[in-house]
Amino acid sequence: MKRILAIACVALSACGVGTSGTCSTDSTLTWESFGQSFMTTNCTSCHGATNASDGVSLTSVALVRAHLNKVDSEVASGAMPPRGSTALTTQQKTDLANWLACGAP
Ligand code: HEC
Repeated sequence: MKRILAIACVALSACGVGTSGTCSTDSTLTWESFGQSFMTTNCTSCHGATNASDGVSLTSVALVRAHLNKVDSEVASGAMPPRGSTALTTQQKTDLANWLACGAP
């Protein structure tokens, strides 16, 4: 079932929206203004093009959307980034959840 969902997400190029945050109509969070630097700073050291931990690469907005629900739940639960990495601030976690709730525009 997970695999079928993943394929559907890739086919649609966007997989719904995150459920941990809230998408406000005046949100200014985009890949350019937020997502790209967030991923580069916190995630791509382990989820890059050549070192995709668990098969998850987060180097483009399309790839983030393809893993949208997992990214949302892993960060909301505190599982990612793993212990030992620089911890996210509450503001960073909130911004990520709200950006994903808008479908990672
Ligand atoms: C220090 C290395 C490291 C960093 C930094 C890191 N990850 Fe991971 N990530 C892993 C490893 C290793 C796994 C696979 C094993 C596991 O789930 O713990 C993984 C798994 C995942 C998964 C897949 C979980 C699943 O159930 O399939 C997602 C999604 C994910 N990471 C998202 C992120 C996000 C988002 C960030 C940045 C906030 C991040 N990771 C930062 C190492 C890292």
